Amino acid sequence: MIIITNKPERLSGELIMPGDKSITHRALIFGALAKGITEIKGYLDAEDCRSTIKCLRRLGVNISARRGRLLVEGRNMQMAESAKVLDAGNSGTTARLLLGLLAGQPFSAVVTGDISLQKRPMRRVVEPLRQMGATFKGEGEQLPLNISGGKLKGIRYSSSKASAQVKSAVLIAALFAEGQTVYDEPYLSRNHTELMLSDFAAEIKSRGSQVTLEGPQNLKGRQVLVPGDISAAAFFMVAAAINPGAEVLLKNVGINPTRSGIIDILKNMGTDLIIQNKRIWGSEPVADIMIRGGAKLHGIKIDGEIIPRLIDEIPAIAVAAAAAEGKTVIADAGELRVKESDRISAVTSQFTRMGMAVTETEDGLIIEGGSRLKGAEVNSMGDHRIAMALAVAGLAAEGETAVHDAEVIKISFPGFIPALRSLVNKG
Ligand code: S3P
Repeated sequence: MIIITNKPERLSGELIMPGDKSITHRALIFGALAKGITEIKGYLDAEDCRSTIKCLRRLGVNISARRGRLLVEGRNMQMAESAKVLDAGNSGTTARLLLGLLAGQPFSAVVTGDISLQKRPMRRVVEPLRQMGATFKGEGEQLPLNISGGKLKGIRYSSSKASAQVKSAVLIAALFAEGQTVYDEPYLSRNHTELMLSDFAAEIKSRGSQVTLEGPQNLKGRQVLVPGDISAAAFFMVAAAINPGAEVLLKNVGINPTRSGIIDILKNMGTDLIIQNKRIWGSEPVADIMIRGGAKLHGIKIDGEIIPRLIDEIPAIAVAAAAAEGKTVIADAGELRVKESDRISAVTSQFTRMGMAVTETEDGLIIEGGSRLKGAEVNSMGDHRIAMALAVAGLAAEGETAVHDAEVIKISFPGFIPALRSLVNKG
């Protein structure tokens, strides 16, 4: 449990963001598949990425940590058979990308996860991987899944969802497949897989929301410098935006346009936010972000193509919306119901306790801004991003907020509380 008692005078300071979770998973998996050594600098050391490391080690991949870097000894596309179950823990990315990798291996394996992950939908990856030639025992709706890989063929696949996990599973399998795979999605989801596969010497073409990869292909190990996680930065962006007088500099944040919807939204709501020192790490754009609090925020409509660009930031955005003037309507975000928790119902139930005027809809939220937040007993609902959003709301609230089951923050950001505290103490 974490308790937030004081309403800080002023938030100020500089923070270096932890490594991006999505990019760390991909660097590990592509490093494992590649020929040669992959060195990963600035990686995220948190539970979800540890789950990926654990699963890859079970498949015979040597991964070691040396002087703040991870060294992955690639197995040139061929994993070792594991009699043991591969446990993805709480990590949807681990489970789904791993299934893509296993689809190309000539053996059977079982993938499972924790109670939350066992409830999350897997048909979305099972269906295309079956079409490519992988075999699954049973219905294939949820974990645990027993997959038998082998000879794969390229497919044309139009996903009904903009999902980077599904896209990545199919593209990883496509590396093993004979012939062309063409993958389409309704809106472009995060494109780290496409960018990094190309960095690992794969030939891959992207046009709009369509990706084409001709298999089979091999990967070459390389150095990866992981940008800071914009999904972690989101909590501090909002904390600063709603705190009058705040001055917070977030350094080394990945600002890939497929992830940076929160920047667009906070700016459109009226936040004083400046992007500085823009540069490129590998194929990923990185910048420092300065936020000054106290500007008048106003409600906004958030729907359509921007949703996949900020899907993980919606719990944080809800806190900004509560501090704004007027109504914020979030729609087309039904995917929130199948994340680490049902985030639509978690935001509604927990923030209501703090006095937020929030109503849930089938695919989103309606937040009436301007209500005064008050401290309360709230619960993370087992979801790291809900826990961090509640802590940020607690900072802005009158009175004491206790966030129960906040230990789950370690899933993506073990250093979150000390980082937040450092901003408060400098106030
Ligand atoms: C992720 C993709 C997103 C996101 C998740 C991480 C990834 O999910 O919500 O936290 O690393 O590919 P989708 O698969 O729904 O895009």
